[in-house]
Amino acid sequence: MNRNRATCEQCHGDTPHESSIINEHNVKVACQTCHIPIYAKVNATQLHWDWSTAGKMKDGEPYIEHDEDGNATYKSIKGSFTWGKNLKPDYCWFNGTADHYFIGDKVDTLSVIKMNTLNGEYADRDSKIIPIKIHTARQIYDCANSMIIQPKLFSEAKGGGGYWKDFDWNIAAKMGMKAVDEPYSGNYCFVNTVMYWPINHMVSTADKAVSCIECHTRDNGRLASLNDFYMPGRNYSAGIDNIGILLIIFSFAGVTLHGLVRIVFYRKNNQGGNHE
Ligand code: HEC
Ligand code: HEC
Ligand code: HEC
Repeated sequence: MNRNRATCEQCHGDTPHESSIINEHNVKVACQTCHIPIYAKVNATQLHWDWSTAGKMKDGEPYIEHDEDGNATYKSIKGSFTWGKNLKPDYCWFNGTADHYFIGDKVDTLSVIKMNTLNGEYADRDSKIIPIKIHTARQIYDCANSMIIQPKLFSEAKGGGGYWKDFDWNIAAKMGMKAVDEPYSGNYCFVNTVMYWPINHMVSTADKAVSCIECHTRDNGRLASLNDFYMPGRNYSAGIDNIGILLIIFSFAGVTLHGLVRIVFYRKNNQGGNHE
């Protein structure tokens, strides 16, 4: 819920810059969008979690693998992980309200299942562009009932049905769904899911703020994926550009013609010899 949070504006005000052009961005661009140029600056952040690879054993025992920074890339109990550092955020419109996947919601698997949806669009007066992290995963899913499965993960000892002890997805799914009072068909698979995380921490010093040209450019700028509005320097209309070019050509032709006509008439008048 986007309530009762300290906001940048409560300390800095709505117009912290001398430049009014920067201040005017506040209507549609959140402070964070310019002031968090990269995230995961010190520690790596998790980007992908694949539950489907869980359950492998070494000498009959669960194991863990790490990368050179010490982040777990594989855990028998949880699957594989991908990490990232010094990342450029993604961007989306956000009006402060969100929707979430709840246990029991039915969804078709043809597309990626959204675990949350951040609401907003350019036309919405409350929406601003914010920086986000996009986290993806592969999660256990009931293919017949079309819902994400809540598996039972924990149990004290082997035989209790928890995946982390018994490594049996089918039993873990059956017991987990029973515990949350939802049906389980006995048929599980893994589906792709996605989560959107607003980024509010890791503000950089002012000299590292995102520069004008990183957004106001035609080639693959930071806001290239947000296409529901006009942005100077990025968007243009070929028609209006052509009219502009024609206007310049006509003006030039007009001036040249006018000059020529004046020269011709000046000469004519001089040849005639009738100065007044
Ligand atoms: C609780 C009050 C508070 C909040 C909330 C706050 N700031 Fe600040 N911010 C400060 C203070 C105080 C300074 C000055 C620190 C200094 O001069 O060392 C500062 C400094 C800054 C600077 C300049 C840093 C530099 O040295 O170049 C930027 C940029 C900034 N804040 C952006 C933000 C953004 C963006 C947010 C919201 C995500 C935010 N602030 C939220 C109090 C706050
Ligand atoms: C369009 C990009 C953009 C947005 C949006 C933006 N800023 Fe900035 N901000 C900058 C740039 C660039 C600078 C450095 C140049 C300057 O100070 O004018 C800066 C400087 C600052 C500074 C340091 C000012 C100083 O005098 O040292 C603070 C504090 C700050 N911004 C806070 C904010 C807050 C709070 C918001 C949201 C209300 C915000 N900014 C929105 C680009 C932006
Ligand atoms: C984070 C991306 C971003 C950065 C950085 C950024 N802009 Fe923008 N700018 C936008 C967006 C988005 C709009 C469109 C806002 C709208 O339609 O209301 C915009 C609009 C504008 C406009 C049109 C203003 C208007 O009132 O219609 C100007 C001029 C502009 N920006 C100049 C700048 C300058 C100069 C800088 C650098 C100091 C800058 N921008 C940095 C995203 C950015």
